[in-house]
Amino acid sequence: MHETAPHLLVTGGAGFIGAEVVAAALRAGWQVSVLDNFRSDVHASALTSPRLLARFGTEFTDRHVRVVHGDVADPGVLDRVLPGVDAVSHQAAKVGLGVDFSDSPDYVASNELATSVLLAAMARHSVKDLVLASSMVIYGEGAYRDEKGPIAADLRSRADLDAGRFDPMSPRTGTRLLPDLITEDGACDPRNVYAATKLGQEFLAASWARATGGRAVLLRYHNVYGPNMPQGTPYAGVASIFRSVLKAGNRPRVFEDGKQRRDFIHVSDVARANLAGLDWSQGQAAGTVRAFNVATGDVHTVGEMALALAETLGGGAPIVTGEYRLGDVRHITASAARIRTEMDWVPRIGFAEGMAEFARAPMRDAHASQEPAAGEVSRG
Ligand code: UD1
Repeated sequence: MHETAPHLLVTGGAGFIGAEVVAAALRAGWQVSVLDNFRSDVHASALTSPRLLARFGTEFTDRHVRVVHGDVADPGVLDRVLPGVDAVSHQAAKVGLGVDFSDSPDYVASNELATSVLLAAMARHSVKDLVLASSMVIYGEGAYRDEKGPIAADLRSRADLDAGRFDPMSPRTGTRLLPDLITEDGACDPRNVYAATKLGQEFLAASWARATGGRAVLLRYHNVYGPNMPQGTPYAGVASIFRSVLKAGNRPRVFEDGKQRRDFIHVSDVARANLAGLDWSQGQAAGTVRAFNVATGDVHTVGEMALALAETLGGGAPIVTGEYRLGDVRHITASAARIRTEMDWVPRIGFAEGMAEFARAPMRDAHASQEPAAGEVSRG
């Protein structure tokens, strides 16, 4: 037991999810340090944003929170920040699909290189507990079955998508595959640079745990939404896009047939999962590495999500366009059994309540310097 409050470092602690982790950690009695580089493509006018300043300041310290403006990939900054830290919640990352392949070195540098620098510094400073923000994107397509049982889904062909055949087909029966909930033992099949770097982070964390006797909790976030979600950036998810479109008085454009399945999880539940992960980690043996889906287990379609937001905001009905983005997976929904059973974590905010709140919640502005080519839309 600590005589003083245990000390948590939240990397990316000024971000959408990181800031919620900071707030949850403070409520749970942690002393918190934030390390954030306030990247301009994520934080528009970050250093002058009244909300951020009100929340953190730029170099703000009081009894419980210290905010350091610096980069996770900078060993010197880490040597300044890590002394006295007991655990790290690593949220800093470059997320989303990005602009195009020219983005890939920045993904690898921001996600994999920076994580390895962080882990090496944690080893130097004997910090043994890590909670890593991973992602469901590492699975690629979700779990599927056909009449004969479970089967992996192949990439969808342009010809199928053009013909409006959006569900992956079974190579052995020729029928449409049926989606299942994926478990943490599902095969990993990262299908874009971001996904590859998230899986790379998991492998780095596992190697660190084995080499140093650290404990790594890998949290595979599903589709996170909630207040302060970034908007107006090529790195935003679909919930943010629909909300911005509706606020501007337009109708959301739902791609494919709108029946693609996702697990939408509220950011406050994701923050609570980080805290649950820290608690869980304390009871584990040195070298433990374990992955957990951070999901509700409650399946919704992208079309349902558009409708829920449109109904709350009184906007026009969503348009189901039949367009598609080649890089999108069809369905990805998860079993949340492991995190519920092992960490005793359950989501507190359900879909209807969460979307109604999100429809009117404040958003975080970010600079969109370029439109996302990786998200190029084709008409089916
Ligand atoms: C999203 C994130 C990913 C994150 C993951 C888990 C992005 C770009 N993707 O993946 O980084 O790791 O959640 O949190 O941030 N769609 C529309 N209309 C639009 C835009 C999208 O119908 O205007 C559809 C897409 O075709 C897709 C679905 O919405 O079927 C989800 O899209 P999106 O949120 O971009 O990506 P995810 O694959 O869910």
